Amino acid sequence: MTNQHPIEPFRIKAIEPIHLLGRTEREAALHEAGFNLFNLRAEDVYIDLLTDSGTGAMSDRQWAGILRGDESYAGSRNFLHLEQTVRELTGYQYVIPTHQGRAAEHLLFSALLEPGDIVVANSHFDTTRANVIGRGGIPIDLPDPHCADVDDTYPFKGNIDLEALEHTLKLHQGRVKCCILTITNNTVGGHPLSLENARAARAICDRHGVALYFDAARFAENSWFLQQKDPDAAGRTVRQIARMMFNIGDGCLVSAKKDGLVSIGGFLAFRDKTLVQHLKELMVIVEGFPTYGGLAGRDMEAMALGLEEVTDPDYLSYRIGQVRWLGDQLQEAGARVVQPVGGHAVFIDAGALYPQIPPEGFPGQQLSVEFYREGGVRTVEIGSLMFGGTDPETGKPYTPPHELVRLAVPRRVYTATQLQHVANSYAAIHRRRDQARGMTIEYQVPNLRHFTARLREIEAGKMVGATY
Ligand code: F0G
Repeated sequence: MTNQHPIEPFRIKAIEPIHLLGRTEREAALHEAGFNLFNLRAEDVYIDLLTDSGTGAMSDRQWAGILRGDESYAGSRNFLHLEQTVRELTGYQYVIPTHQGRAAEHLLFSALLEPGDIVVANSHFDTTRANVIGRGGIPIDLPDPHCADVDDTYPFKGNIDLEALEHTLKLHQGRVKCCILTITNNTVGGHPLSLENARAARAICDRHGVALYFDAARFAENSWFLQQKDPDAAGRTVRQIARMMFNIGDGCLVSAKKDGLVSIGGFLAFRDKTLVQHLKELMVIVEGFPTYGGLAGRDMEAMALGLEEVTDPDYLSYRIGQVRWLGDQLQEAGARVVQPVGGHAVFIDAGALYPQIPPEGFPGQQLSVEFYREGGVRTVEIGSLMFGGTDPETGKPYTPPHELVRLAVPRRVYTATQLQHVANSYAAIHRRRDQARGMTIEYQVPNLRHFTARLREIEAGKMVGATY
């Protein structure tokens, strides 16, 4: 275990004050939010680890780029800069800006899917899944079998299960419209996908005439991991490795709010123009003219610069090292943490922390609530609240294999002492773990219920489940 927090390869030039509310105020905020941390006022949060998306700090170069925004309706120079940057990074010729990742998903699946079509992936992110379903499609996750074991330290847990891919494409011959490889694979733990796995997936897709796209929100973190661990990438720069990966696919959909180092932005990019004309027609109605796609010129400039900066090796080794350091501190405080620690977040196994709470009592949500109660820390549940529900075909309840809480670390934002506060908060929660009783839902909607659900805590002496 390393205990040295990496030294930041930057200095702080602008600050934003944050404040820890008192215990009674935090308790009141929890009640008002219906014990759903998405409902909190951000100002009431001290350390916000809800997401690493759009929450990073921009560099002085990027802020300078904001002033160089060319707000022309068509043909803005910032679009041309972005287009050139994406072409150099990915090797893909056709670049379509979108206002964020899910807009790219919406456009791609609108062009690609008919009701009943299937999309396979190493894992769909929740909006990706929702966009497939929104088109009447069926998303199928084929994560690497090593993911089943939280403690397994296999370095490429972001891989797609190749056997399952072959089997699925055979079984549903003609119905699978594309394969999405999410790099890094967010929902399983922010793990990388290896070059070998991507090539093998490509060969299988080719045999079945299926297109392959990367969901490349965290492409730089994926490339950094490969540089450290993948023999195919040894001795290459992060940019070369990213290019090797993109070479394997037909295109990518990207939320630039992660490795684009911006607050808003995304894009689609393709090797050939088959889909491009159709997508441009679609996007004019929903996103805007194809040279701005729902963004201001200044946003595209910041995005182009962010995509250049993010592959800096000093930045990436600090970035990944900081997340790993947080993982180490949490483990020292007693947490069972998904192994190995991923690129953008630490995932705590809340099911292991609270064996007394069954999945329908939302152990992950309980831990998230405790994090806010104890330290004003906001995290996100990735368990039965986010991915559980009722199977529309069988009417039976289903739950995901693990009850996790994700602590996503914004890029270039928090210091070691702030993350130490997070680990200290966890230590206090861990000590009183026997007292937790779980949660019950008071209000929910059928799709993406975790965003808006209202819950309450089960009182002491009661317990979710048949025997109580
Ligand atoms: N794909 C992946 C792998 C993501 O992690 C996200 C967003 C998206 C697509 C959608 O992009 O937010 O720009 O529309 N992930 C965020 C998260 C929200 O917290 O993990 P978006």
